[in-house]
Amino acid sequence: MVRLLRCEICGDPYVGDEAPANCPFCGAKRDYIKDVKEANVNFDVELNEKDKANAEHALQVEISNAAFYLCAAQKTDDEEGRLLFKALGKVEAEHASVWRKMLKLDSISKGDDTCHLSNKENLEDSHARETMAIEFYGRAASEAENDRVRKIFEVFVEVETDHLQLSKERLE
Ligand SMILES: [Fe+2]
Ligand SMILES: [Fe+2]
Ligand SMILES: [Zn+2]
Repeated sequence: MVRLLRCEICGDPYVGDEAPANCPFCGAKRDYIKDVKEANVNFDVELNEKDKANAEHALQVEISNAAFYLCAAQKTDDEEGRLLFKALGKVEAEHASVWRKMLKLDSISKGDDTCHLSNKENLEDSHARETMAIEFYGRAASEAENDRVRKIFEVFVEVETDHLQLSKERLE
């Protein structure tokens, strides 16, 4: 039977018979996708100075990576590569919007990152970006005082690790 579900990490709703393996918006694992009435979603969090600084940095990283992927989705010289980068660009844009909500910002700027024509160079760029994101999110999770903020940092480590896996496989 069709249900209305909701992701506890990004807060977005999903219509389906059952929870997908990963949130189609932010990539969080199925454990975080709940019946809408049971989903616990909170963006009204008091951030201490460190968590706020890390959330602001995360926002910039996601804006920058989203812009890169959306560029690569247009320009990369490989059909499957265009689809991969389109999928990744959507997820990173959703991550940026999670940080926008945590920081209570009305809007966010668009990134101006550029990309390459060569699919291999884009995969290498993706690999470097995801590696940096994983390192940063891991550090931010260990520094976090707020449980909700720590959970988001931890979940995004998992999601960016999935992204890294995709570029790794294609570069081998
Ligand atoms: Fe991300
Ligand atoms: Fe990513
Ligand atoms: Zn989600």
